[in-house]
Amino acid sequence: MGGELEDIRRRIEELRKEIEKHDYMYYVLDAPVITDARYDRLMQELLQLEQENPALVTPDSPTQRVGGKPREGFITVKHITPLLSLGNAFGAADLMDFDNRVKTALRGESYSYVVELKIDGLAVALTYQHGVFARGATRGDGENGEDITANLKTIRSIPLRLRTPVEILEVRGEVYMPKESFLKLNSRREERGEPTFANPRNAAAGSLRQLNPGVTAGRNLNIFVYGVGALHIPGQKPPDTHHEALELLKDLGFRVNPHYLVCRDIEEVISYCAIWRDKKSELPYSIDGMVIKVNSLAQQNFLGATMKSPRWAIAYKYPPEQAETTVKDIMVSVGRTGVITPTAILEPVFIAGSTVSKATLHNEDMIREKDVRIGDRVIIHKAGDVIPEVVEVLKNKRNGSEMPFAMPSACPACGAEVVRQSGEAAHRCTGAACPARLLEGMIHFASRGAMDIAGLGPAVITQLVNAGLVRDVSDIYKINAEQLKQLERFADKSADNLVNAIEASKSNPLHRLIYALGIRHVGERAARILAEHYSNIYELMDAKFEELINIPEIGSKIAESLVNFMHEEQNRRLIERLAQSGVNVVAEKKESTDQSDFSGKTVVLTGTLSSLNRDEAKEIIESRGGKVASSVSKKTDYVIVGENPGSKYDKAVKLGVNIIGEQEFLELARK
Ligand code: IVH
Repeated sequence: MGGELEDIRRRIEELRKEIEKHDYMYYVLDAPVITDARYDRLMQELLQLEQENPALVTPDSPTQRVGGKPREGFITVKHITPLLSLGNAFGAADLMDFDNRVKTALRGESYSYVVELKIDGLAVALTYQHGVFARGATRGDGENGEDITANLKTIRSIPLRLRTPVEILEVRGEVYMPKESFLKLNSRREERGEPTFANPRNAAAGSLRQLNPGVTAGRNLNIFVYGVGALHIPGQKPPDTHHEALELLKDLGFRVNPHYLVCRDIEEVISYCAIWRDKKSELPYSIDGMVIKVNSLAQQNFLGATMKSPRWAIAYKYPPEQAETTVKDIMVSVGRTGVITPTAILEPVFIAGSTVSKATLHNEDMIREKDVRIGDRVIIHKAGDVIPEVVEVLKNKRNGSEMPFAMPSACPACGAEVVRQSGEAAHRCTGAACPARLLEGMIHFASRGAMDIAGLGPAVITQLVNAGLVRDVSDIYKINAEQLKQLERFADKSADNLVNAIEASKSNPLHRLIYALGIRHVGERAARILAEHYSNIYELMDAKFEELINIPEIGSKIAESLVNFMHEEQNRRLIERLAQSGVNVVAEKKESTDQSDFSGKTVVLTGTLSSLNRDEAKEIIESRGGKVASSVSKKTDYVIVGENPGSKYDKAVKLGVNIIGEQEFLELARK
């Protein structure tokens, strides 16, 4: 028994080391060496072993990065050494003054500087005890911060264990949100009608101060570590210079920004700052300046600090780039989910690395708040160096010809009614046949949880739309094999398969159709509840708000959205057309149960799978109760087909055995 437990313990440790290694390769070095699927399998195995042996779970296990419970609030903690802030320099002259102060204080001693990027995020302090990440806190007022350990653990580039055990270590760094993640987060929020973040810094701050670490985990935050607060490595000489400290941090497993430079004098510092002023907009994250630090730690110590900031370092701030221009027009565009976004069309100006001719106005409230009118002279900037935005309207430059703007009441793309739902900032188009929403809607319609039409993925749908074969989802049911065969890359067989899959989807249970219509807030669960409650789609089409909210689990959001959708004439006609094509619109008692695992099933593999090898696939099947056989017979339940399948594939076709592709297999395995 003891031996067995020892084996498990050993395997757990092995898995943790392996996962840590891959986290380091992927998140710190940005050089992954294994596929996501393999990584997921290591994590799955570790999770399972830990679940079966809860006594072996430790806080530094990679499984402990997510899954912390939401808290009531944050605890205030005192920093081991205070986190100071920096004095600012706004030009070369300020830097020369700083250098003169250093020179005078050091009385002729030679010195050098390290210049780093000043990452525009949030300062944090990370404490390690005996090599294990013990606590992470915000800067707070410098003396005391808030304990945000659980949230920081979700940042994969923060090591939970150091590569070399160090008795006590406190490091400082900047947590930030990459520009791209910031843009994506904001557009998701805009689509959902939630308030957007003004810049990546605010987005990072908002994400770090979440009471639920699960939310933080989904925000793609990252960190650059730039300093050591406290350090004690038994038997090892501490670093002499800041440069050495940065190298040590890298060796310990931290992510250090690679663009630091050791400079011999202030002239070199000034020219390095000038280089980044021009290049900063190319970085995937925002910086708001550079930080200049005296390199020698003994000299840093000697120079000391004032009440607020060290005498050995200074921040060189780039002025926020702004420009004045004219709002030529205000246009609206329709997004993927029907959100109507107003955009200011500007007289083009150059700002922060590019020419700007548009600025988002976000929504109606924003336009009202700033009182932006067509013809206004405005000041613009790039929020967080990324999004062009109107900062201010120069109202004193108005001449009376400026035109106020109103959101349209009909969709500019399809003419359907535009609504602003209560509690939302966004206006949305309600037309299901709106061309601007079409593609996304069709992809959803055919997707697995919805009508589940195999072979009808985003690429094929785009092809069909471009060829003019489909204009809305009801056209899918009019396509014939001959038309498909005319399309590029469509072999006879794949055309027949697709037509068969489309045909088969007609007899899907009603809840799939309800979900497939893509009605806002109506997810798979709500669709099932509705399909159980009504005997056909026509009853649902005429359901009243009061009636809907009386159905258990159907709230006012879903009800309002359903009523709006069904009220729109285009949507009613679309449903009619689907019914006429033979799509099932009637609720049924008996539902085909989805295959959820491989228990008792015989599976044959043929061809090469791209994300896993044969043994791994076999393991997945067996771990879910299936058996892998080497040849196909009538008793075979599934044949999983990869690239270049062999004769087993032909045999499976001949015998009419269920054939599934890699994607489908992985989805089945994930259930
Ligand atoms: S050093 C005593 N280095 O800038 C030294 N700070 O205005 C303190 N920051 O609170 C900081 N990148 O949040 C340092 N490479 C860097 C930095 C950096 C960003 C932030 C940090 C600090 C603020 C100071």
